[in-house]
Amino acid sequence: MKRFNIAALAGDGIGPEVMREALGVLRVAEGKFDFKLEVTEGAVGWAGIDADGKALPDDTLALCKKSDAILFGSVGLPERDPTVPKEERPERAALLRIRKEFGLFANLRPVKLPAALAHACPLAKERQGGGIDILVVRELTGGMYFGQPKKTEDLGSGNVRAIDTMVYTSLEIERIARVAFHAAKLRRRKVTSIDKANVLENGVLWRETVSRVGRSHPDVALEHQFVDNAAMQLVLRPGQYDVMLCENMFGDILSDEAAALGGSLGMLPSASLGAGRGENVFGFYEPAGGSAPDIAGKNLANPIAQILSAALMLRYSFGLNAAAAAIEDAVQRAIEAGLRTGDIFNPAETGARKVGTSEMGAAICAEMVR
Ligand code: IPM
Ligand code: MG
Repeated sequence: MKRFNIAALAGDGIGPEVMREALGVLRVAEGKFDFKLEVTEGAVGWAGIDADGKALPDDTLALCKKSDAILFGSVGLPERDPTVPKEERPERAALLRIRKEFGLFANLRPVKLPAALAHACPLAKERQGGGIDILVVRELTGGMYFGQPKKTEDLGSGNVRAIDTMVYTSLEIERIARVAFHAAKLRRRKVTSIDKANVLENGVLWRETVSRVGRSHPDVALEHQFVDNAAMQLVLRPGQYDVMLCENMFGDILSDEAAALGGSLGMLPSASLGAGRGENVFGFYEPAGGSAPDIAGKNLANPIAQILSAALMLRYSFGLNAAAAAIEDAVQRAIEAGLRTGDIFNPAETGARKVGTSEMGAAICAEMVR
């Protein structure tokens, strides 16, 4: 039997309640397929600050280092931000730190609008085309998020300057481009690379480098789009996209936009992967939406993004493709059966039933054993 150690870091806001559902689904998957997960929970985010004074406590980091994968909830409670310096806030001190620490440069965000949720897509039916099925491949450890210098300085006379630096090397672009081309080969063999080559030096290098990588993958069609045009094309003709290849910040923005097209940010899972480590790739799996403090603790959050993130973990880090597919199918069937959390509920839809976080999780577990 295959055994794996996972670090479960639920974090803040809706993190704990959606994590609970994902762990429940993983337990059911274990019972059906031949694997065993040793799950160890760790504090992170404001929960880490409260427990141990740091958004990423040393114990939590040590736990991550000895785990085979990290299943992450979400961090951040903007209301509490003024109480600690910005470098110590969870987004930077935990999330970005983990991404950098583990070299998780490749972020995969699959957006798929289920046919049963066509009404939850903000686009009119005729714009949805044959359905929306996009993989956003986002570079995650470079660009403006991490470039130096990064600082705020007082220029005197009431004037302040804030600097972020957008910086990429051709090697960083090459490795994420390779991820996109390989992913495209398992899909519809098209990569749309996003840049701002008409203005940015970074954009010029991005386009040249991606084109060069593309020449080694003649069986994949490559297109380039400026990011502003892509933001527009995404709502005008989303069916044109298979794999969208983006630098860090463009990917952050466009993946939220794409998530809305997929019905809800509450449905978008995400896998962050580093370079291969033997057979199994160490990875970090998190819902792409935030901690949603406004609905936290009320049993209102959609647990599907967290559950689908757990499925991505089984697939990418542990090679458990059948178990991952079983979870994805169970999610699909729960949706087809009419279960809806608030974010995907439309009272006009016949047969739809509004449920809470735990009911949705339980229904997905029930579909797993059906
Ligand atoms: C995401 C989030 C994070 C990001 C935030 C919480 C720092 O928006 O994962 O998309 O910007 O990367
Ligand atoms: Mg984001």
